[in-house]
Order: sequence, then C-alpha cells, then structure tokens
Amino acid sequence: MPPHDEVVCVVGAGYVGLVTGVCLAESGRTVHLVEIEPRRLERLSAGRCPIHEPGLEEMLQRLLAAGRLHVTGDIAAGVRDAGVVMIAVGTPPAEDGEADLSQVHEAVASAAANADRGAVIAVKSTIPPGTTASMVASRLAPGFPLVSCPEFLREGSAIHDFNHPTRIVVGGDDRAACERVAALFGHLGAPVIITDSTSSEMVKYGTNTFLALKISFINEIAHLCELTGAEVGAVADGMGLDPRVGRAFLDAGLGFGGSCFPKDVRALEAAAAEHGHSFWMLKSAIEVNLMQRRRFVTKVREALGGSLDGRRLAVLGLAFKPGTDDLRQAPALDVIRHLERMGAAVTATDPAALEGAAPMLPDTTLVTDAYDCVRGADAVVLVTEWPCFRQLDWRRVAGSVAQRIVVDGRNCLDAALLTGLGFAYHSVGRRALLPD
Ligand SMILES: NC(=O)c1ccc[n+]([C@@H]2O[C@H](COP(=O)([O-])OP(=O)(O)OC[C@H]3O[C@@H](n4cnc5c(N)ncnc54)[C@H](O)[C@@H]3O)[C@@H](O)[C@H]2O)c1
Repeated sequence: MPPHDEVVCVVGAGYVGLVTGVCLAESGRTVHLVEIEPRRLERLSAGRCPIHEPGLEEMLQRLLAAGRLHVTGDIAAGVRDAGVVMIAVGTPPAEDGEADLSQVHEAVASAAANADRGAVIAVKSTIPPGTTASMVASRLAPGFPLVSCPEFLREGSAIHDFNHPTRIVVGGDDRAACERVAALFGHLGAPVIITDSTSSEMVKYGTNTFLALKISFINEIAHLCELTGAEVGAVADGMGLDPRVGRAFLDAGLGFGGSCFPKDVRALEAAAAEHGHSFWMLKSAIEVNLMQRRRFVTKVREALGGSLDGRRLAVLGLAFKPGTDDLRQAPALDVIRHLERMGAAVTATDPAALEGAAPMLPDTTLVTDAYDCVRGADAVVLVTEWPCFRQLDWRRVAGSVAQRIVVDGRNCLDAALLTGLGFAYHSVGRRALLPD
C-alpha cells in the first residue's frame, strides 16, 4: 500500500461517513472527517455522536482523543496528505424520484480541487449506474482516479456490518486505484469484486431493490393469507427454508422505509425510464409498499369497530426500524398522519427518534415513557419493533389502557400472552385473535 494511503479523508459525516471514518480509524488509519453542516460538526468536534448508532459515540471519543480521527469543516485541510478520499454525502430523492446528485458533484469537485497528487477519490454514496463514468467523462475530478465503492451497512448494526462485510465491491477504469481502495478493507477478509464503475453502482441498486421487492412480495402474500386464512409466519418459514429463497426479508409487516430502500427503488426506476425502459417490478414494489400502510390504517380502524373519530391511540415506535433514530420515509409518519386525519388523537413514543419527530408530527403527543403512552388508549398500535416494546410489562399495560386492543404492524408481539391478558390481537397476514 502506498504510504499515504495510511491517511484517509471521508467527506460527509452521516450514517455512512461517520461509521466508515470511525471504523477505518479503529483499524489503524489516520482519518480526516469532513462535515459541512455546522451543528453536526460542532457536536462531532465535542465528541458527541450526532446520530443514534449503538457503540459509535464511545469509539468516536476514544479515536478523537488518540489523535487518529480528526474532524473538520474545511475540505482543503481534510484531504491534505490523504491517499484515499471517500465521498459519503447524501443522495436524497429529487421531486421526480431521481437521485439528487448535487452533493456528490460538489464534494467530488471540491475534493479534486484540493487533494494531493496521486490520491484516489472513491464514492461510497449510492449513485445511479453510470454516474461515476459520467463524472469521469465530464472531467469533474481531472487528474484523479474516480472509483465507485458502494456501502452495504445497515443502520442499527452499522459497526458490526462495517467489520463483517459480506463483500467489498469497487469499480472503476483504473485497476490499481480500485485495488488501493479495496486494500483499506483487506483486514476484514471479505470477498472482493473489482469491476467497472457502472457495474459496481448497479450491484448496490440491484441489492437494495431486490430486498425491497422481497418485502413487498411477502406483504402481498400476507394479504392473500388474510383473505384465505393462511398464516404468513408459517408460510415465510416454509418458503425461507428453501435455500433458493432464503428467510431474510420475508417478514410481513408495515413494509420498508428509511433513507435507502424507498429512494433507491424510485431512483433505479427513474434511471431505467431515462434509458427508455419501464421497470414494472419496481413500480409494483413502491405501490405495494404504500398500499401496505393504507391497509394497516384500515386494520386499525376496523379493530376499533369502523371509526377512529375521537379515539385515543398509542403508537409504539417512530424510527423506520429499531436501533436507529432515522425517520426518513418512516412508515410511522405516514400511518400517524392517516390516523389523525381519520379523527384519532395519537400519543406516540420511541426510544431514539422523539427529537427528530417533534417538528414532523405537530398534532401528535410525544412522550418518552411507553407506559405514559398507552395510558387510557383505545388501542395500542405497534409500528417499530424495538425490543423494549416486546419486553413491556403487558400486564401493567392491560391495567392502564381504556380498551384491550393491540394492532401489531410488525408481527413481533407475543400473541398468546396478549390474548391471555384479555387483549384482542390484530397483526399482518394472520387471523385476528380474540381474548381467551
Ligand atoms: N444510511 C444508510 O444506512 C446507508 C447505507 C448504505 C448507503 N447509504 C448511502 O450513503 C450515502 C450517505 O447516506 P447517509 O445516510 O450517511 O446520509 P446523511 O444525510 O446522514 O449524511 C450525509 C452527510 O454529508 C454531509 N455533507 C453533504 N455535503 C457535504 C460536503 N460537500 N462536505 C462535507 N460534508 C457534506 C451532510 O451534511 C451530512 O451530514 C447516501 O447516498 C445513501 O444512499 C446509506
């Protein structure tokens, strides 16, 4: 490895960049983390983690103190001496569903304007197939090899995922540059695929959209289970034991949300359309995912006898999944707004996402304690499967709600326990259970 590859610059300190920077520093590199958002930068500089990711704050503080991780708002200082510059800025959806690449373009251009000769620029952000090639063609980073190095970590288990990758994918025209980027992850022992940049970008979209399709598929099966009397958990187990199918991502529920699946599905669909191709399966995955939320709201209404007007609902979980405070495209936001439009008064709780949710849910009462949340509720509605909700003292809950009705949007609660305590239990893709 060239000596200056010991110094890595990561541009963008969000869920991907911060974890990547911290974990690369932990592996022995010197890392410069560049962040432009002033509040995030200030928190990071003080050793406070701006996102909820288990274990990250402790590592951040230790590596800052050890002088292996440096945080800066100045790209010129950040890229100085770095052999590899990783771009991990956001690629949010634009109005038409296409990925908004302005942050990537800006970061790549400013990295190239300031980096040392011989540095490689690697894009970790998720960018549509062909983006790196078009940035090379338009000479956005003249004189620097530009490669794609997609990220596959999951929020909530990001440090584990970084340290146990299923594969390292790097794509670009310059094989030696790709190998230098792959070498940063060499100690992790994962299979390495080096390819062209467009294929590398397509691996990321192919993976995320396939997983989203799998979720929408099982949710369609779940709906059919409700219509036919089958039980979706048994169906998913039976399907999943077939190694050609696999059990992962076959959990029926409220569908996918978060910063990646919804936007990546829409972005690939938009990219396909740009090439004159209608990617029907992706259109269906999106439609089914939206429909799943609507069906769930209907389920809540029916559980309460057909009207939500004036009903008190306790919603457990706001983040798009457990282990994170990320609310981007979170099903809870949609579900709560629908319930409120139908006349319900909603009280909600979440172990990590309350602060972020407050401005997005102005009509919702947000409380920190789950027992306060359920007090006096006409129904308890579970939206995010945080373990702490499963572990609630449901006997205590039974004693404080107005009506013993649970609607479980993630099929994660103990149905026998709840019906034994006198709850009516409604879930997804399974028959409703009445109290014993
Ligand atoms: N979040 C995930 O789980 C995940 C997983 C895999 C891939 N990705 C992809 O990785 C990319 C980043 O995702 P994220 O969730 O970390 O986004 P994020 O919005 O949490 O973080 C991006 C950060 O980049 C900063 N930034 C933007 N422009 C900058 C610049 N010019 N210089 C310095 N900092 C700048 C922003 O202020 C922000 O803090 C996206 O393309 C996403 O699709 C995300």
